[in-house]
Amino acid sequence: MSEQTSTPVVRRVDARHRYEILVDEQRAGLTAYRDREDRRVFFHTEVDDAYAGQGLASILVTQALDDVRAAGMRIVPVCPYVAKFLKKHEEYADITDPVTPEVLSWLDAQLGR
Ligand SMILES: CC(C)(COP(=O)(O)OP(=O)(O)OC[C@H]1O[C@@H](n2cnc3c(N)ncnc32)[C@H](O)[C@@H]1OP(=O)(O)O)[C@@H](O)C(=O)NCCC(=O)NCCS
Repeated sequence: MSEQTSTPVVRRVDARHRYEILVDEQRAGLTAYRDREDRRVFFHTEVDDAYAGQGLASILVTQALDDVRAAGMRIVPVCPYVAKFLKKHEEYADITDPVTPEVLSWLDAQLGR
């Protein structure tokens, strides 16, 4: 297991529609989204195997969701990790919207799948 030697840094990369988490300036993971008006639809989260099990996904998603709130936007948790995270962190319930078939169709079109 790799040692975590510095505080992870989370940054939003608008051009790639994602937040990234960096450890020692190396990208360790990301959570990807698409924006639908005032809703940020999270659809995939991943942490590289070398960094797994250190709580990095939790740090990443916490900072991403706080950023959504700061922007006055809302969350739609298509990503299973984000959905599970939200079940444990009720403090985001006031800005969370349900995943609907209509949102899923829209997301598929956005992602070209
Ligand atoms: C899921 C993933 C992002 C977790 O990264 P991590 O930094 O090791 O996660 P953390 O240490 O912050 O948290 C571990 C938690 O993730 C949960 N988890 C692991 N895989 C999961 C999955 N596929 N869906 C939902 N939750 C998952 C674990 O149950 C654990 O939950 P707990 O805190 O309640 O015990 C990582 O394992 C990964 O990249 N997996 C492959 C891609 C994937 O399946 N992504 C999720 C769906 S898009």
